[in-house]
Parts: sequence; C-alpha cells; structure tokens
Amino acid sequence: MSYNEFNNLIQSHRSIRKFTNEKVSDDVLENVIESARRAPTSHNVQAYSLLVIRDQAKKEKLAQLSGNQKYVAECPVFFVIIADYYRLKRVSELHNEPFEVGEIEQVMVGSVDAALVAENLLLASRAYGLGGVMIGGIRNQLEEVAKLLELPEYTFPVMGLCIGYPDQLPEQKPRLPKEAIVFYDKYDLEKVEEGLRSYDTITEQYYRERTNGQKTDPWSKQMAKHFAKVNRPQVEGYLKKQGFLKG
Ligand SMILES: Cc1cc2nc3c(=O)[nH]c(=O)nc-3n(C[C@H](O)[C@H](O)[C@H](O)COP(=O)(O)O)c2cc1C
Repeated sequence: MSYNEFNNLIQSHRSIRKFTNEKVSDDVLENVIESARRAPTSHNVQAYSLLVIRDQAKKEKLAQLSGNQKYVAECPVFFVIIADYYRLKRVSELHNEPFEVGEIEQVMVGSVDAALVAENLLLASRAYGLGGVMIGGIRNQLEEVAKLLELPEYTFPVMGLCIGYPDQLPEQKPRLPKEAIVFYDKYDLEKVEEGLRSYDTITEQYYRERTNGQKTDPWSKQMAKHFAKVNRPQVEGYLKKQGFLKG
C-alpha cells in the first residue's frame, strides 16, 4: 500500500453502525488481531486483553448493557478491549515482589494501551474493507459486563468495538478546525476562541442538514450539555473494587 492509500484509509474514517450479513472470516480476524497486538505499549507492560465476542446471546446482553445500542448485537464481530493487570499481578507473585497499581497512573497506562489496540483493530479491519464503531457504552454497567465476561480482579473494560462489512456510508463528521487543535511552540487561547466560533457554524449546518432540521445544536452546545452532568460516576467505585485507585 502506498502512503497515499494509507493516508486515504485513515482520513476516510467515519464510524459505521450498520452492517451487512457477510461474515468476517477467521483468516481476516486473525490478521486483524495480529495487527492489534503490534500496537506500542507503555513500558512494554501490555496491560490489555481482547475479548472476541462470538456468542450471539452474549452480544445481545452486551448491546442491552451498553445502553441498548443495537449494532452491538448486529455486528458480526464484537470486541471488548479491557485494561488488564491480572497477568502483571501474577508475575509479581511469581517473583515475590509487591504489586503497586493503586495510582491513577496505572489506570491511564491501561486505558492508553487498550485505546491503541482498539485503533489498530479498527484500522487493520478497514484495510479489509470492514468498518466499525467504538463503544464506550460498555462502561455504563461495568459490574454486569464483568460478570457476564467473567473478568478477574485487576481488569476493567475500556471500550467495545463493533466490526463488520459496512451497509452504510455516512457523511464524514466535521472535526474541529486544525488551527484550534494544532499549536506551534506554544498554546494559543485566541485560536481556540476563533476555532470554537467557526466550528459552531459548520456543525450547526451539518446537524441541521443531516437530521432534516431536527437537531440544530452546534458542537459547543452539545458539549456544554454533556459536561453539565457527571458522566458515569459508577466507574470510580468499580475501579476501586477491582484493585485500582487505592493510592
Ligand atoms: C472511546 C470511544 C467510545 C465511543 N463510544 C460510542 C458508543 O458507545 N456508541 C456510539 O454510537 N459511538 C461511540 N463512539 C463513536 C463516536 O461517537 C464517534 O467516533 C464520534 O462521534 C465521531 O464520529 P466519526 O467516528 O464518525 O468521525 C465512540 C468513540 C470512541 C473513540
């Protein structure tokens, strides 16, 4: 693949939430997983695991637990990417060393490892003509998800990922203007303000056209509403129960 083709693949990203019935072959799945396994990992800790959900009943339960997102049940392959320190606890025991994962740093390391793997999974899938969408909804009901998947201590689900052959080609969602997110040598508050203004004009029009006038809130208003409440407050308690955030 040339760099042009590679850039096109990345730059044509859009989340896919509707899939054809076509199965993903074991061969393709294995290759996608191999690419995911090559993701860089902090300090080579490899603090993640991948659960490939093939069982339809489990996919349906996970769809419900993720906020009734039906594409979780409909996609041919559903991954749950977890941050996983269980293996690292085992190696500490094997070498009679203390095991310190109480700091928020370890939650960050595990989440970043999981996110890098998830993006590799998605990009490798796209090279086969597949598409997908990440599912943060998997953190809505962590206790129930963990029970269903028999997750041990020192693990937590970071995100899900639906993969399949696309049965839609949604318009690409506009991103924040480059000037508002890429800074040279120093952060620029003015550029942020300008970027917010121009992005609101773009997104207001985007949502108006895409929803036939049903949704007109520009991006800044959507985000302001999102951050006006505490999101998933249950995550902290669950992480503590699993052995994290004890420092
Ligand atoms: C970590 C993460 C979690 C996400 N969770 C969900 C989800 O639960 N349901 C969903 O429909 N989309 C989910 N998305 C997709 C985002 O909504 C989507 O990436 C964003 O709106 C930008 O749209 P685009 O990917 O089509 O460019 C998630 C994306 C990420 C990165």
